Amino acid sequence: TSSQSETLTETDASLTLFQRQRPRRLRRSEGLRRMVCETSLSVDNLVYPLFVKEGEGQPEAIPSMPGCFRYPLDRLLEEIEQASELGIGAIALFPVIPNEYKDRRGSESYNPNGLIPRTLRAIKQEFPQMMAIADVALDPYNSQGHDGIVENGKILNDQTVAVLVKQALTQAEAGADFVAPSDMMDGRVGAIRQALDAAGRADVGILAYTAKYASAYYGPFRDALDSAPQFGDKKTYQMDPGNGREALKEVDLDIEEGADIVMVKPALAYLDVIDRIKEHTHLPVAAYNVSGEYAMVKAAAQCGWIDEEKVMLETLTCIKRAGADLILTYFAKEVAALLAR
Ligand code: PBG
Repeated sequence: TSSQSETLTETDASLTLFQRQRPRRLRRSEGLRRMVCETSLSVDNLVYPLFVKEGEGQPEAIPSMPGCFRYPLDRLLEEIEQASELGIGAIALFPVIPNEYKDRRGSESYNPNGLIPRTLRAIKQEFPQMMAIADVALDPYNSQGHDGIVENGKILNDQTVAVLVKQALTQAEAGADFVAPSDMMDGRVGAIRQALDAAGRADVGILAYTAKYASAYYGPFRDALDSAPQFGDKKTYQMDPGNGREALKEVDLDIEEGADIVMVKPALAYLDVIDRIKEHTHLPVAAYNVSGEYAMVKAAAQCGWIDEEKVMLETLTCIKRAGADLILTYFAKEVAALLAR
């Protein structure tokens, strides 16, 4: 009411703060705010994770990841074309492997005519400029849904690394620009680097899942691949969410073993880890804005409880502010379209 606003004006006049620093001076206008903005997202930072499946036909919706699909190869290529038109320069590939190809050793993972090698060859033929990142891990291929070979309920480290090396070599031969070990076995980065170099593939890079936590945020991804562990959990290889210093140990090892880019995963609950790793290394740092983080935003937006576009941009900007140079995100196309406006 008018009497209230008069009272406020009187109060204003009665007090003048002699305040040298007034942070609000730099927030006065949109132009000024943009001028002093410390972090802006760019399509150059985005990596678009994609799911590929056998066969033909329509892309299959993933209920817990609205807007994401399992694509048959021909439809995947259409999706990559769209992403490319939006300026996205990198994709990360994950395969949906039919149960009949899964076994205890994950041997389909190094079949040169398997789904991923066929997909990589097709991508490189049609879109040679698109950077293709191939995931190295056994969980999509392992009948027990673990990232390594299981014996008597235990995940075998060195035997698994031997298979991962074959998988990485197969992907490199098929045209992968980067291989991305997401399995968290000890010593796998070094073994893969050595094998790639020995095979004349020194130009193929390693994006290491360096600080990958045993996280419940991967739930929707496991729905997408039908890759949930058949028994137990992944805590004997993925990191404990309470550990921050241990991430620095993992970074030191991965650098020493030859990683080109180090990654933190998930991103949002681990921004401090991104920050600490960024301070600790000169390598580029990547962050994976994982399936559960994506699903939470989509679900709340579908309920009408948050503004999806704003939350998405805020989330990714803050992941970058924390220190991520690259962000793997299922929002990649949506963000790229917004940034292009
Ligand atoms: C497995 C892998 C996982 C993700 C990427 N690679 C799941 C897991 O470790 O169980 C999760 C990605 C996401 O949740 O978006 N090697």
